[in-house]
Amino acid sequence: MSRALVPSETLANALGANELARELEARGYEVVRSGGFGLAWLEPMLVIDGQAYGPVRDLDALEEVALGPVDEIPAIARQRRIVFDRCGRGDPMDYDPAWLLDQLQRSPREIIAEIRASGLRGRGGAGFPAHIKWQTVHDTPAPRKYIVVNADEGDSGTFADRLIMEGDPFRLIEGMLLAGHATGADKGIVYLRSEYPLAAQIFAQAIAKARELGLLENFVMELFIGAGAYICGEETSLLESLEGKRGEVRTKPPVPAVAGLFRQPTLVHNVISLCSVPGILKMSGAAYAEIGVGLSTGSMTFQLAGNIQRGGLYELPFGLSIRELVEDWGGGTRSGRPFGAVQVGGPLGAYLFEEDLDTPLTYEATAQLGAGIGHGGLVVFDDTMDRMQQAHFAFAFCAHESCGKCTPCRIGAVRGKETVEALAAGEYTEDKIAVITELCDVMEEASLCQMGGMTPIPVRSALGIGK
Ligand SMILES: Cc1cc2nc3c(=O)[nH]c(=O)nc-3n(C[C@H](O)[C@H](O)[C@H](O)COP(=O)(O)O)c2cc1C
Ligand code: SF4
Repeated sequence: MSRALVPSETLANALGANELARELEARGYEVVRSGGFGLAWLEPMLVIDGQAYGPVRDLDALEEVALGPVDEIPAIARQRRIVFDRCGRGDPMDYDPAWLLDQLQRSPREIIAEIRASGLRGRGGAGFPAHIKWQTVHDTPAPRKYIVVNADEGDSGTFADRLIMEGDPFRLIEGMLLAGHATGADKGIVYLRSEYPLAAQIFAQAIAKARELGLLENFVMELFIGAGAYICGEETSLLESLEGKRGEVRTKPPVPAVAGLFRQPTLVHNVISLCSVPGILKMSGAAYAEIGVGLSTGSMTFQLAGNIQRGGLYELPFGLSIRELVEDWGGGTRSGRPFGAVQVGGPLGAYLFEEDLDTPLTYEATAQLGAGIGHGGLVVFDDTMDRMQQAHFAFAFCAHESCGKCTPCRIGAVRGKETVEALAAGEYTEDKIAVITELCDVMEEASLCQMGGMTPIPVRSALGIGK
């Protein structure tokens, strides 16, 4: 009997994967619902006896969309899949815990040393060195310590957290248990955005399976569903929300690693950061540090979205240029019109233009442009992009999502939005540009967190004013 891997992830399902699975079963295939490979433009992509087909619309016309052996598809073969190595290759619940149990015999000191050697930096946005947080949580005496997984995934164009949680939830469970063991935390909570019901269902199933496998005898693992606020992705708002309060940013210090959830030492990490840990331990921290460039080590799960031919997730070593990602991997704009701009790193990220495209995707090089990599999302626009509209969107987004705790962001974003509206209505005066410039300076310098602090980045880059 032929064996068909049919992705069960939100995008593929929306494009007809569930219906294809039913039809294949009716035709006598052994159907396995797997994770997705992340190649959005090929979904739903089926793998039948090792041969890939996609995008499949009609089972009777498979040969028209034949892609050859799955491992020979260039968009898969040329990736460096460390986090996503298992994703798409079988039933996510089919898990052998032997490797993990073996690793859990290693000493916390040894594991933290590997994380330090790897140079791993947080994949949630700030790019902070992971080992410093691990060491701090480990070294801070407390009655209880926590691992909190940030799966709020609010950045525009991003879906890496969802894809791994739907396709390989045990990769995250491995990361959480290893982090708990290394830091001394015995409870882990995943804060998942409410818009990800399938990820919630699959992850809950994986927790139950982990319990059956005896992996959770000394560790409590829970799933918490957020209520849908961008600011709850900011780690201290997230902690407030987990404590049952309104998602409002806390002043720092103390940092969460010292006093986080219920004021106990808490390791807050993005999903992909924790999912990078098993790969690091498999190959060694030193080997991981060889991948990438300079202080941007390892692989990044870049996500291409917007006006792009081949949107999807590409796990690649840091260091390729934005042009390579957008043109070679992404195939250029979907509209066929000339490239216009790319917003890198979410709604608070910079708009970059043709002249920036040869910049390497590293934390250091993007920072030199006043940009950042964020969670690895790139949203592409063609030359019809309206720069004024995007500047307006940045202020409007901040005004809508601001937690309201500090004045520069709460008031500044609203005034900024109004001023851009006046500009767009034709009241283009030097005065208005001066007001926007000043608002941006104040928001950048005086906001309590990066929500208000980074909103000037898309505004300035879209309007071409600036720093
Ligand atoms: C406004 C705002 C929104 C954020 N949203 C997210 C998010 O959705 N997911 C995430 O992992 N980090 C987000 N962050 C970053 C977190 O505050 C924090 O740096 C991160 O969870 C730490 O994990 P990491 O070290 O693994 O990156 C956000 C930060 C800000 C300022
Ligand atoms: S910058 Fe905005 S989101 Fe951050 S604390 Fe101030 S009001 Fe809240």
